[in-house]
Amino acid sequence: MNQAEEIQAFPFPHRDGLDPMPEFAELRRSAPVIRVRMPSGDTAWLVTRHADVRRVLADPCFSRARATRGEGPRINRTTTLPDSILAADPPDHSRLRRLVAPALSGRRAETMRGEIRLLTGQLLAGMERQPRHADLVACFTRPLPLTVICDLLGAPRLDGDQLDAWNDAMRSLTAMPDAAVMAAVDEMTEYLTDLVAAKRAHPGDDMLSDLIAARDEGDRLSEGELISFCIVLLAGGYGTTADRLAGLVHLLLDRPERYQVLCREPQLIPSAVEELLRYAQANVGANLRVATEDVELSGVTVKEGEAVIALTSSANHDEGVHTEPDLLDLTRAAPAHLAFGYGAHFCVGAQLARVQLQEAIAGLVGHFPGLRAAGPADWKRGQITRSPRTLHVRW
Ligand code: HEM
Repeated sequence: MNQAEEIQAFPFPHRDGLDPMPEFAELRRSAPVIRVRMPSGDTAWLVTRHADVRRVLADPCFSRARATRGEGPRINRTTTLPDSILAADPPDHSRLRRLVAPALSGRRAETMRGEIRLLTGQLLAGMERQPRHADLVACFTRPLPLTVICDLLGAPRLDGDQLDAWNDAMRSLTAMPDAAVMAAVDEMTEYLTDLVAAKRAHPGDDMLSDLIAARDEGDRLSEGELISFCIVLLAGGYGTTADRLAGLVHLLLDRPERYQVLCREPQLIPSAVEELLRYAQANVGANLRVATEDVELSGVTVKEGEAVIALTSSANHDEGVHTEPDLLDLTRAAPAHLAFGYGAHFCVGAQLARVQLQEAIAGLVGHFPGLRAAGPADWKRGQITRSPRTLHVRW
């Protein structure tokens, strides 16, 4: 067997569910930094221990720009949105972050809580009118964050289905041919260019209008940066939230006693959401970083120019950091986790995500204390995160 054949393919083969992955535990124990081959054919180092994952995410010698701009290792051969906030290193990144962060501040997310609660109530009331059986993804976990993102961007809610289809393409690792992903990005860029032009002409009370006007010491977002940011918002802000919400509800219904705990003690919901985010093995991969100098991680030298995948899903189950990490304990006090990343690119929408997850789960347990799964979930495949495609429930 030659050297190339010995390298394991990554992502690892699909498995339904979000429970702990035994292969990650084994890697953390015996081979915390291994070479893997990505769908592009390029190789990367896969890093699974908490300390190494944090280091890769926080240390400026691991660059996002080198994983997205110019030549270099890539996960696949689709777009890397080189103008986007996720593709930038400081000081470029710090400038973009200063311009967009106020529009997504924790305070702003809290002001949206009332509207999100209202929307949750409306969607669940619609579900209640059905004959005690529904697909929770179609009725609830998808439309809630989709409406939130449409309102945030000031896009018509009616365009939601189209945005959802583009989002699916953006999240594909192997689910779609590269050409289909690129076509979706082109269509989305065209749509957003028109939306930006409309907002420039008639600013509204929405984030896109704020971002167009955003200034920082005379600086502002270029057209390319603005469009790329909206695409990241759609894939990250909507797609990740919708996938994660469906996944977390699946974890609750998979063991009915978990759901019952939150029905009895809804005051646990904020910390239970953090524990669910920690526990869920939802990230199949991660945004690549490229080393800008030789660096040692758990005894392995990562050379300048080599790619690194920092696996937060695995880090969140590191035995050295969490007691009984493979136990989903909804009463665990303030479990710290890396589900929103770490360092400069830490999720700028984390508080808005938390508000949606908390309100959605509070709404569910309030409206449907008898909710239960009606058969196994059907799972998405070949995307950057694992999540249920459908989640049939009864009540
Ligand atoms: C449960 C839902 C969410 C999860 C698990 C999540 C997770 C993440 C993670 C892990 C990163 C860092 C990626 C990296 O370091 O390579 C990130 C970045 C980001 N997220 Fe989220 N996210 C969620 C919801 C949201 C929402 C609701 C928004 C906005 C509406 C959002 C907007 C962003 C943006 C713009 C970035 C890039 C930040 C930067 O590069 O500085 N996310 N997210």
